[in-house]
Formats: sequence, C-alpha cells, structure tokens
Amino acid sequence: MAGELKRIKRHSYILNAILLFISMIYGAGGLRTTELRITPRVVQRGKNVTMSCLFPPHEYGVYSVKWYKGTQEFYRYSPLDSPQIRLLPVNGIKVDRLRSNETHVFLIRVGANLSGNYTCEAIHNSHAYPQYMASARLDVVAVGGLRATDLRISPPVVQRGNDTTLACLYELTDAPLYSVKWYRGRHEFYRYSPTENPTTKIFPFAGINVDLARSNQSQVVLTRVSFGLSGNFSCEVTADAPSFATSIVSNTMEVVALPPSLPVIQTDKHYYGPGDVLHANCTSGPSRPPADLVFLLNDIPHEADAHQVHPAPEGLFRSEIYSSIQLWPAHYERGAPILRCQAKIVDLYKDDAAVALYSGNSHPKIERVTSPGSAGSLQVCQFLLLLQIIVWANNT
Ligand SMILES: *[C@@H]1O[C@H](CO)[C@@H](O)[C@H](O)[C@H]1NC(C)=O
Ligand SMILES: *[C@@H]1O[C@H](CO)[C@@H](O)[C@H](O)[C@H]1NC(C)=O
Ligand SMILES: *[C@@H]1O[C@H](CO)[C@@H](O)[C@H](O)[C@H]1NC(C)=O
Ligand SMILES: *[C@@H]1O[C@H](CO)[C@@H](O)[C@H](O)[C@H]1NC(C)=O
Ligand SMILES: *[C@@H]1O[C@H](CO)[C@@H](O)[C@H](O)[C@H]1NC(C)=O
Ligand SMILES: *[C@@H]1O[C@H](CO)[C@@H](O)[C@H](O)[C@H]1NC(C)=O
Ligand SMILES: *[C@@H]1O[C@H](CO)[C@@H](O)[C@H](O)[C@H]1NC(C)=O
Ligand SMILES: *[C@@H]1O[C@H](CO)[C@@H](O)[C@H](O)[C@H]1NC(C)=O
Repeated sequence: MAGELKRIKRHSYILNAILLFISMIYGAGGLRTTELRITPRVVQRGKNVTMSCLFPPHEYGVYSVKWYKGTQEFYRYSPLDSPQIRLLPVNGIKVDRLRSNETHVFLIRVGANLSGNYTCEAIHNSHAYPQYMASARLDVVAVGGLRATDLRISPPVVQRGNDTTLACLYELTDAPLYSVKWYRGRHEFYRYSPTENPTTKIFPFAGINVDLARSNQSQVVLTRVSFGLSGNFSCEVTADAPSFATSIVSNTMEVVALPPSLPVIQTDKHYYGPGDVLHANCTSGPSRPPADLVFLLNDIPHEADAHQVHPAPEGLFRSEIYSSIQLWPAHYERGAPILRCQAKIVDLYKDDAAVALYSGNSHPKIERVTSPGSAGSLQVCQFLLLLQIIVWANNT
C-alpha cells in the first residue's frame, strides 16, 4: 500500500515536471487557463480522434479527471481508485482504454452523432479540491467533398409575425468548416465561423430578427417576420484552408397575412322576389396577398361583373367584387335563395359569408346565415401557394 502511494506521488512529480515544462514552452501564464484540445477538430466519420486536457500542474497531482460529451460523463481517471480508468457508457463513444491516460483520451472510429461539445474537468488533490474545466467542439463529417445541397425554409409561407427556420444542408469533408454565411438577397445577416469567438455574428438588416439561441452552424431561426423579408435567401458554406472551397444554395420565402374577419356582403335592397335584379358587393378583410372572391347563388358560382383590389393599411389589401344577378322563380323553389361570398387565398385560407334573400311577403329581411363547414381553415399546400404568390407578385 505504501509502495502504491509512493508510486502515485512519484508519478505525479514526473507529471508535474512535464506540465511545468509544457507551461514553460507556452510561456508564462500559458497554462493558467485550462484547455481542451481535440485533434482533428473536424474529422471524417470512422476516423480516430485524440483529446487532450491541459490543466495547471499541482504538487499532489490530480484527484480525478472527468470527461463529458455534452453533460454525459464517458471517461473518468481517478488515480486513487482501482481501476484508475472507468468508462461510462455513452451512445456511440468508443474509447481506446489502453492508450488513454490522465490527460489524453483516444476515441476510436467516431460516428456522425459524436459531433458536439466536449468538456474535461480536472480536480486537484488538495484540501480545497480546486477544479479546472475546459470545453471544445468536435465535428464529425461525411466522406466526400464540400457540397451545399439545400436551403430548407420551414414554413416557406409564413404568417407575418410568426417564426421561420432556415436550414442549410451541406456535406463537408477533407477540410474543417470555415464559415456559413446567410444572405437575404445580397445582404449578409448571419454568419457562423467555428474558429472565431464568438462563433456567431449578426449583421443588422431591417426587419430581420435572428434568434441566436436557436441558431447554429446549420440553421438560423427568424422571429417576428415582416413582409419585407419575402424573397430570396441563400446560405454559403466555405471550407477551411487550403481549398477555401465554397458552395451556395438559395430558396424563396413568402410572408403572408390572412384576413382577420369574414368577407362582408352588401346588397342594394332589403327584400327580393322572383324577377328582381340583385346588386351585391362583397369585400374581404385585409390580407396579403389579396383574397380571391366569388359569389355563389344557391351554391352555383356567378362570374363577378367587376373585381377590384384596394390598398389597406400596413401593406395589406382588400378585395372587392360586384355582381348583378337576375332572380327567377326557380331560385325560390326551396325557399329564400342563399347568396354566398367565398374568400380564398390559395390553399392557405378559405372562408365565406352568406345571406338569405327573403321576399317582402315572407320573412322581413336580408339575413346572414351560417353555412355548414365555413369555419376558417388553414391548409398549407405551400408549394402551390408559393407558385401562385410568385405569379401574383410578378403581376403587381
Ligand atoms: C484507430 O484506433 C484503433 C484502435 O487503437 C486502431 O486499430 C486503428 O488502426 C486506428 N485507425 C486509424 C485510422 O488510425
Ligand atoms: C450513434 O451511432 C452509433 C453507431 O455509429 C449507435 O450505436 C449509437 O446508438 C448512436 N447514438 C445515438 C445517441 O444516436
Ligand atoms: C498520456 O498519453 C499521451 C499520448 O499518448 C502522452 O503524450 C502523455 O505523456 C501521457 N501522459 C501520462 C501522464 O502518461
Ligand atoms: C459546453 O459544455 C460546457 C459544460 O456543460 C458548458 O459550460 C459550455 O457552455 C458548453 N459550450 C457550448 C459552446 O455549448
Ligand atoms: C402563426 O402563429 C400563430 C400563433 O402562434 C399560430 O396559431 C399559427 O398557426 C401560425 N401560422 C403559421 C402559418 O404557422
Ligand atoms: C442546430 O440546432 C437545431 C435545433 O436546435 C438542432 O436540431 C441541430 O442539430 C443543430 N445543429 C448542429 C449542427 O448543432
Ligand atoms: C437568389 O440569390 C442567389 C445569390 O445571390 C442568386 O444566385 C440566385 O440567382 C437568386 N435566386 C433568385 C430566384 O433570384
Ligand atoms: C358596391 O360598390 C360600388 C363601388 O364601390 C358602390 O358604388 C356601390 O354603391 C356598392 N353597392 C352596394 C350595394 O353596396
């Protein structure tokens, strides 16, 4: 037992000598701060990785050194325990136990899911058990060259004021990531550069709010989007030296506003009978893009005589249609005819208002009727919508 302790002490003296030597190499104060070095920092999957923890030397050596991926401990070195090295199971991590020691951990054949934040924590063997911690990132990349494959915007059609996520999909090997730059049109608004501190940078652009907490090297989250953001977004990926190869992908986003209220029907008279001509207007609630309106009499669509789009506050539009419809006895066969005005914004929005056209000798009024299945619905068939909005935008 005494021999064991002596060995540990001798061992720690040798280690301290080594560490002091290293600290001399790195200059005065160079080892004041703890450092976790990962080599290589960006690695192809299936390769090995070496992690070394540099912490200040101490007369009585370390009590323990713990290693974490994220918050999960996967390796512990504690010289006073037997065995001195303990491996704790963390999904996907394979440690080469024979080569790993107090300061170095060897990971074998890393998988893509080992990318992330690693931490080493050294606790010294002294009265106060001082702790030293350092963290660093490991990125595991696929085999192949640099290739940005897609800029995914979800949702690509977003309601004004809502959030949207832009995800840049890319493959990068043979070199570490140098940067990912994000553009609205030609204006850069967000940059991720893993070698810089901080790793993320925001460039102000009117109307763009980046949620940093939800943004990283592969995605950026925009909050409270406004109409000005509709348009072309790009992400540009750059590989590190020596190639500095770049790859860029683009996609389109549209910001919309749905009508807050039902369309409103106005008729020129209170009562109608067979033989009368009905003059009616229908106006939609403010929206962007403007809603498409159509009249239906007893569920048969009627071509409008006129269709207008009026500007409304806050960059919105009100659609209006006008129709004159000849009423015949046939319209009254099943009671008062029902005039319906249906508002649609492609597949995003559909709602309608309806009135019953009573004749003077039955019920005394035009009445709003509730129609079955007229509740506002938001069915997102965004590809079609996008096409239609682009057509609309090009025509305005
Ligand atoms: C990775 O480490 C394992 C175990 O030490 C070894 O057998 C293998 O050859 C190493 N691979 C490379 C590419 O160095
Ligand atoms: C990581 O990948 C390995 C195989 O490469 C698998 O065994 C492990 O379950 C994965 N871990 C997680 C957290 O998905
Ligand atoms: C731990 O392993 C590394 C790499 O093999 C070696 O350079 C270092 O001297 C070892 N440290 C100790 C304390 O044995
Ligand atoms: C890495 O993990 C450590 C310990 O959990 C934490 O303190 C640090 O902030 C993390 N760093 C990053 C960049 O997430
Ligand atoms: C926008 O946000 C509102 C409120 O959070 C939510 O109800 C609505 O579904 C969102 N719209 C879209 C298109 O995501
Ligand atoms: C970026 O953040 C998203 C959402 O938090 C997460 O799903 C994704 O894995 C992160 N990507 C990287 C490379 O960390
Ligand atoms: C979007 O922007 C990128 C980069 O500026 C450009 O290459 C691309 O042609 C643009 N796409 C459209 C549809 O304007
Ligand atoms: C319908 O709109 C037109 C033009 O805005 C207006 O002149 C007319 O009075 C309106 N008709 C009804 C019945 O409200």
